Amino acid sequence: LGHTGEYHDLIGSTNDRAKELAASKVPEGFLVSANGQTAGRGRLGRSWNSPSGQGLYFSLVLYPNLPPVELPGLTLLAGLALAQTLEVLGVNVQIKWPNDLLINGRKVAGILTEIAAEAERTIYAVVGIGINIEPLAEEVKSSFAYPATALKEHLPEVSRQSLLALFLERFEKLYEEFKKGEFSWSLTEYKRRMAFLGEEVMIITGDREYRGVLHDLGEDGSLIINDGKTIKRFAAGEISLRRK
Ligand code: BTN
Repeated sequence: LGHTGEYHDLIGSTNDRAKELAASKVPEGFLVSANGQTAGRGRLGRSWNSPSGQGLYFSLVLYPNLPPVELPGLTLLAGLALAQTLEVLGVNVQIKWPNDLLINGRKVAGILTEIAAEAERTIYAVVGIGINIEPLAEEVKSSFAYPATALKEHLPEVSRQSLLALFLERFEKLYEEFKKGEFSWSLTEYKRRMAFLGEEVMIITGDREYRGVLHDLGEDGSLIINDGKTIKRFAAGEISLRRK
C-alpha cells in the first residue's frame, strides 16, 4: 500500500479525490495525501478541521474482494493499525469504537471509510485518516465535537514520514490477513485497546439514545451493550459512542 500516490499542498478532501481516482481504477493502495484540506470531512456528516501544516491528512484506495457487509471490519483494522503505529512511536492510545484514536481520553485522530458497492459486491473502499499533529490552539480545540489533542503534545519529535510509513506497513499486514478471513486475532488486539470497556456509555443513533454498559466487541466488530435487561448489538455506521 502507498507505493503509488499523489500529494497535494492544498485540496478539498483527500477522500473525495481518492473516490474519484478509485472510480477510474487507480492501483490498489493508491495514496492521496495533503498538507491541508479546505473541505475535510468526518463521520456523521461532520467537517474535519484540516489547516495546512497542522496535521496528517491522507486517503487510501482499496479494492477488497469482500461483500460490503464485511467492510466495517476494515475500518476497525485501520484504527488498530494506527493505534499500533502510535504505540511503536511511544504513545499509549485507546480506540473509541469504531475508530477514533484517543490519548488520555482526548481525540488525536479519526478515520472516515467510504465505500461504493452494488448489491453484494464492493467496488472500492476509501480509508481516510486525519491525525492532529501540531499542538492545537484553544479556539480550535473547542471547535471539535469531542475533546481533542495533538500528537506533538505527547511526542514532540514525531516525523510525519515515518508515522505514515509505519502505518502503511502495519495496515498492509492487517489488511492481507483480513482478506484471508483472519480477523479474530485483530479483534482481540482491538479489544485490548478499546475505550470504555465495562463502563456506562451512551449510544447515539440518528434519533435515539441508548444507555448501558459497554459489554463486549462482537466477532463481526459490532458493539455489544448491556442495558441491564437486554443485550444489544450495534454495527458501525451512523452511530456515535459517548462515555456517560
Ligand atoms: C472522524 O473522526 O469523523 C473522521 C475524520 C477523518 C478525516 C480524514 S482527513 C483525510 C481524509 N479526507 C477527509 O475529508 N476526511 C479524512
